[in-house]
Amino acid sequence: MKDLKIHYDCDPGQDDAIALLFALGAGVDVKSISIVGGNVDVNKCTRNALQILEFVGRSDIPIYKGAPQPLKRLSQPLPLVFGECGMAGANLPEPTIAEQSLTAEAFLSTIDIPKTIVATGPLTNIALAIQRNDVFAKHVKNIFIMGGCPYPENIHGHMGNIQVKGSEGWAEYNFAVDPEAANIVFSSDIKNIFLIPLNVTRTILYGYAVDKALRDCGTKAAILAADILSTVGEEDHIDYASEKTDQSDPVRAMHDVIAMAYLTNPEIFETERLPIRVEIGEPPLAAGQTLIDNKNFDNGSVTVIKDLNREKFLELLVIYMRQLL
Ligand code: BDR
Ligand code: CA
Repeated sequence: MKDLKIHYDCDPGQDDAIALLFALGAGVDVKSISIVGGNVDVNKCTRNALQILEFVGRSDIPIYKGAPQPLKRLSQPLPLVFGECGMAGANLPEPTIAEQSLTAEAFLSTIDIPKTIVATGPLTNIALAIQRNDVFAKHVKNIFIMGGCPYPENIHGHMGNIQVKGSEGWAEYNFAVDPEAANIVFSSDIKNIFLIPLNVTRTILYGYAVDKALRDCGTKAAILAADILSTVGEEDHIDYASEKTDQSDPVRAMHDVIAMAYLTNPEIFETERLPIRVEIGEPPLAAGQTLIDNKNFDNGSVTVIKDLNREKFLELLVIYMRQLL
């Protein structure tokens, strides 16, 4: 997949870390990475990304540290989901490499990046680049975004995984953290937007069986992935309680890696075109909620993932982890 060149924007975050391992194992040519504050603060997310690259011997990929907080709102870190460091279970040594001196916003605005972006965190860095350089949105031909929840998710029937403060409504985390940024991206001139939403990512669950398949691979990367994914935070233990076979079953969603899988193996996915908008109003509206704006069908339709072949995805996860050291 060397001809698949991407820039990756993320907030690692346990599941972002697995998405990065998956991309590298699949042989995607990850040219550069930008980090956004999200699951934990931007410094911790940057350290986690540096650790992963060093672990797999890919310190040649430059990392750019980006926005510490959303455009207009307060950060919403999730230590009870991902651990204080954001990558609980990894236990990797301190990185010996450092990020680049340019900020993510400055780097992205140079548009010295591939025409394809994968984004699995709040969209702050991408929105800042769109605002800073008029040519940026035209340069980017494809953006694969893990985020949003246009239909109720399968476990609790909510329109996301975060109840929006002051509202009765729910929204998906990446959009809820920075709704204004998501709105800028969805209203931009980026030609092809592919949305990998929460209502799909919550249907692919980690648990005993996937854990065993990864550990049986025996590679260092597969075992690291299993160590990370099986370290389930307190909030996920509660969130996924109904899906466990017993108390210790490490059940959780793997979210971001599904976006990477759509990039590498679109043939195992089903999609539809939807006119997506992101709510930016104040309570009682739920900022960050994903809206299907049928009145404006012409207004930039988005390719939205509806479903995927779960068995095939799990096979690919194992195959790509085996291809790393
Ligand atoms: C998304 O939010 C983050 O917590 C995960 O890393 C994923 O990108 C799921 O809602
Ligand atoms: Ca993420």
